[in-house]
Formats: sequence, C-alpha cells, structure tokens
Amino acid sequence: MTDSITTIRARIQDARREAEARGISSPKVVLVPTMGALHDGHLTLVDHARTLGDVVVVSIFVNPLQFGPNEDLSTYPRTLDVDVAKLAERDVHLVFAPTAAEMYPDGNVGTRVVAGEAGTTFEGRTRPGHFDGMLTVVSKLFHIVSPDIAVFGEKDRQQLFLVKRMVRDLNIPVEVHGVPIVRAEDGLALSSRNAFLSDEERQSALTLSRALEAAVAAEARGIDAAVAAAQSVLDGESAIELDYLAAVNPDTFGPVDSGYTGAVVVLVAAKVGSTRLIDNRTLAVS
Ligand code: PAF
Repeated sequence: MTDSITTIRARIQDARREAEARGISSPKVVLVPTMGALHDGHLTLVDHARTLGDVVVVSIFVNPLQFGPNEDLSTYPRTLDVDVAKLAERDVHLVFAPTAAEMYPDGNVGTRVVAGEAGTTFEGRTRPGHFDGMLTVVSKLFHIVSPDIAVFGEKDRQQLFLVKRMVRDLNIPVEVHGVPIVRAEDGLALSSRNAFLSDEERQSALTLSRALEAAVAAEARGIDAAVAAAQSVLDGESAIELDYLAAVNPDTFGPVDSGYTGAVVVLVAAKVGSTRLIDNRTLAVS
C-alpha cells in the first residue's frame, strides 16, 4: 500500500514490466476506485477486475470534494488496515490510499470536471456538486494510474453513467465496466453506509429492494405499472423518507414515457433514520 502518487506510478510500471517478463505482451492495468470500508460488493469488483486484466490496482480515498457541507464526510467509515488485509488475501498489493493533502495539495482544486445537466438530477439534485467532485477525483485517478480498464459498481448507477460519459466526452483512453449490484441474503444492496443502520432501520431499509422487486414483477404490464407497484411498497413503510423513485433510460439517464419499451432502470433513494441509501434494478419493458 502506498499513499504517494509517485510511488504508485512506479509500482504500476514495475508490475507492467513484470507481466511482460512473464510473456504477457501488452499487460492490461485495471483500476477499482473505492472509498474503502470494503465489503463483498467491492471484493466482487476486484474479482471482476482480475478477469479483465493483468495488473489490478485498488484506490481507497474518501474524497472530500464529493461530500456536501452537511453530509457524512467526517463519519464515513474508514477501515484502512482491514481493507488492505482483505485485498492482500485476494493477492492485490497495488493499493493506492492517498491522503487529502496528496490529492489536493492546495487544499482544494482550481480545475474541476463539471458533470453538466445529467449531474443535477436525482443524486445530483439532493447532493449539489457531488458529481463534479466525484468526476474530478475519478479523472485524477485515471491520470495517476493510467488504467486500460476501470471497474465501477452498478449500485451507483448515475455515477457509472456519468463516468462513462466523461470518458467519451473527454476522450480518456479507459474502458469503463459496470458490475451488477451485490445483495445481502435479505435483498439489501451492499453499501458501506449499511454499517450505520440499526437492526430496526435495516428492516425498514429492505423496503427499497422490495419495492424494486415489485417493479420487476410488474414489468410485463409496462413502465407505469412497474413504477406504481414500487411506489405502493414504499408507501407502506412510514419509517423511510423517500427522496425519489424514477424510471430512466440507461443510455441517456433521461425520463421514459408511458409507451417506452426496452431496458429501463428504476432508481430509488431514501433516508432511513439519518442514513441515505440508494438502489436500482434494470427492467426489460416490452
Ligand atoms: O463510488 C465511490 O466509492 C466513489 O464515488 C468513487 C468512484 C471511488 C470516487 O470517489
């Protein structure tokens, strides 16, 4: 593990050369960007990364730029030693865990990536500036690590959409892969923030995945019926504070109308106690 940009670059170069020495002619470097507090969802990303390339790099950085002033930056779970041990068990030793001072030596950045219109809806509406901060750090990580491939979880679906669009818009030579959500046995989407939930809150939190399950069960009746089915499950749980439930076209992240057919992503976000959770499912509407 290193917290130094110079060192991680040198180690990645060494790893590329070692892979070449083993007979791999153009070794592929795969980056898994994370904010740590690694759970099985992250480890699935790492396993997926391994199938895609030869050198896997995991970054761990709780990026202050993507947290609003009243958000959970100071309490966000930080478990660096445990994270590094989990990665070592999976034979991942290229771990880049910089300090905020290493990433933002001036305390801030004068230059930022702007997510634009699609960064101001859903998560971006509730968390103004979040996606600019997220894209800025992802862009920095791409410049530091120079990966051939980067792997992101589909739980943060809007994030994945915006990263793919940034790569396309700014001609960044990185292939971006999305990996399906990993769920606990009870259906809850794995998230580092689940650690904040009490037992009772966790039961309420299951309403999100149950609502999406209801949407999938109703998909044959069209998009409006699917959203209505999800809404009625959410309406039945008073302990959650719904932020949004919406159906979007995965290619544009724009709304879909009643007659739409094809793949649709149903997104949900809600607060359970003081913890904000998001989830989504992809429907095939015909
Ligand atoms: O999804 C996350 O954990 C973060 O938004 C990311 C992509 C690591 C950027 O800080």
